[in-house]
Amino acid sequence: MAIAEGIKEKICSEMSLFITEMLKERALNNIKKNIKEVIFKRPTQVILETTNACNLNCPYCLVGMQNELTSKYGNAAHNLMSRPVGFMTEETFDIVHRDLKSFGIKKVYLHFQGEPILNKLTPKFAVVLKKDGFKVGVFTNGQAFNDRNIAELAEAEIDLIRFSVDGASEESYQKNRVGGRFEKVYENMKNISLAHRGKKTRLEWQFLVLKNNEHEIDIAKKLASEIDVHFFTKGYRESVTELAPQNPDYKAKYHIKPCKDIYHQIGIYWNGDVVPCCYDVDGKEIMGNLHEGSLEDIWNSEKYMNFRKRVDNFKRSPHVEPAICKNCLRWK
Ligand SMILES: C[S@@+](CC[C@H](N)C(=O)[O-])C[C@H]1O[C@@H](n2cnc3c(N)ncnc32)[C@H](O)[C@@H]1O
Ligand code: SF4
Repeated sequence: MAIAEGIKEKICSEMSLFITEMLKERALNNIKKNIKEVIFKRPTQVILETTNACNLNCPYCLVGMQNELTSKYGNAAHNLMSRPVGFMTEETFDIVHRDLKSFGIKKVYLHFQGEPILNKLTPKFAVVLKKDGFKVGVFTNGQAFNDRNIAELAEAEIDLIRFSVDGASEESYQKNRVGGRFEKVYENMKNISLAHRGKKTRLEWQFLVLKNNEHEIDIAKKLASEIDVHFFTKGYRESVTELAPQNPDYKAKYHIKPCKDIYHQIGIYWNGDVVPCCYDVDGKEIMGNLHEGSLEDIWNSEKYMNFRKRVDNFKRSPHVEPAICKNCLRWK
């Protein structure tokens, strides 16, 4: 009995030592990873808009001020966006790529507004960035895949492909992802999963929980595991109140201002315009254009510094807080 107790104690103490070491290492890695952001307050991540065109009209999506336009025009089509709709060219990408490297960006997401797979060059951009050592991810509605772009994307072997699929039946999916078909996106996820067998790419099914789909979470989870895709639910940011889920746990929680995202991430539109936030969907705070100046110069420009000051000092000087921040769905 005493011997058994002794062994138990030894195992416990070794396990606790192992856990402490593991936590220490993880904390150290996190510090190393974020050192640039924390100490130098300098972003290491960009969201790159390969296009702001979209093939769907999700009713909650803020792309191009969708909701405002919906009430005004009775239509949520993306071509109503007040800034021009376009596709990133190879020429713009080359300039952007060069600048990201010299600025010290580590991670590139190939989406911002719109649907990235509508730009035929997106998989090619992914290949170039991966070869150059960037971490690369993309969020997609998953509707526009075909054999060719699936093979091209698999060749890039990026770090993350996240499918935004808000339903597990045609009925709910087509209400939330207006213009899309559940059968199609599920088939595409399956084919992408097969094409990525043995590769390091993480595949995710992101399920935005809304009032009309919260009863389908378990079935969606099961469907995801059948095709080897990681499943998770995303909290809804209440852009349209009526769509909010009943279970409050499924609503996204607000972070407390001052916003830190502006020191973490930069947004770049398809035409090379640089914006400080993913909620600047309509170019209200364009800081410069990469055809005209480097990311380094834009980041250090008076305009950008002033923007950061207005965000940081929102409490002392609420009247100068940028309008995009006043309506933010992430920071309150
Ligand atoms: C603007 S979309 C662009 C990429 C692509 N078209 C897609 O649907 O994944 C980026 C992500 O924002 C999410 N999103 C849009 N509006 C949202 C909201 N109100 N609350 C939470 N997530 C939202 C979408 O579900 C999507 O995953
Ligand atoms: S597919 Fe993406 S960008 Fe298009 S409307 Fe839906 S959430 Fe917005």
